[in-house]
Amino acid sequence: MTDEDMDAERGQTEARIREAIRRQPPMPALCGEVARRIREPNADFGELAEKMRMDPGVTMNVLKLANSTYFGGGGRVDSLRHAFVRLGARRLFQLVVAQGVASRMASRLVGYGLEPGALLRHSLCVAMTAEALTRKLRLGFEETIFTAGLLHDMGKPVMDAFVLESGPQAQTRLRNEPLSSETVEMDLFGITHAEVGSLLMTEWGFPIDLAEIVRAHHRIAATTLHELPARMVRLADGFAACSGFGGGSGEVNSELLAEDKSKLRLDPEAFDQLAEGIPEKAAELENMLTMIHRD
Ligand SMILES: [Fe+2]
Ligand SMILES: [Fe+2]
Repeated sequence: MTDEDMDAERGQTEARIREAIRRQPPMPALCGEVARRIREPNADFGELAEKMRMDPGVTMNVLKLANSTYFGGGGRVDSLRHAFVRLGARRLFQLVVAQGVASRMASRLVGYGLEPGALLRHSLCVAMTAEALTRKLRLGFEETIFTAGLLHDMGKPVMDAFVLESGPQAQTRLRNEPLSSETVEMDLFGITHAEVGSLLMTEWGFPIDLAEIVRAHHRIAATTLHELPARMVRLADGFAACSGFGGGSGEVNSELLAEDKSKLRLDPEAFDQLAEGIPEKAAELENMLTMIHRD
């Protein structure tokens, strides 16, 4: 095949992937609305509760999550109002989104070699690690980083069919590609899972800064405005992979991991302390969300 033929084929695949993004089913109505308002500092609880009451399934799911070790912790949360008082509106919004996207992220991704639940577990681990570090370092983007971490690989479920179609050789290349590099996806499809995820989030109405963090989570140079949160997601991504909760890419690039730690001014001991126990909590939450999906 000549270079021109390869370029033409890549161009066609990219066009089909962009079409697949447009054909993705929309988010459930309540989830879509919450996605648009996820950064609101003073969301009106009355209005949110009214809408959630129309959807008892969502309320039940959110209460289950509110009682998990990560979100709950002290005593049982048994009503929406109680959850609001304990966790605040922003956290409630995050839980509505988490339960809304869980089913899309919990399926098996054959192309990327991920078993059922693996991408969801990975994403939760990234979300929690990034959030814990951001809080500790008081970086100022505490409200957005959990959702950015949760959705950072949202492009993968869209791309998986194309990865599968590209054949075993391409899949091996992709799985062996160092984490933090996206050259194989660019080479095969002309677009990366980070870009696809970011476009999907825009379709769903998420705030533009969240989509931008997702777009830059492997290529920090792709953003100037959101460099630190993008680094934070990349660092948490590396941590998840080192903990055995990888998201379908290859080895962690230890040079980039060290670069991210140093740019975020994070000393290695503090990192280990903060991240301790997060993979287990991510697994608990993944089980919970997968059960909710099955119920
Ligand atoms: Fe990624
Ligand atoms: Fe990832």
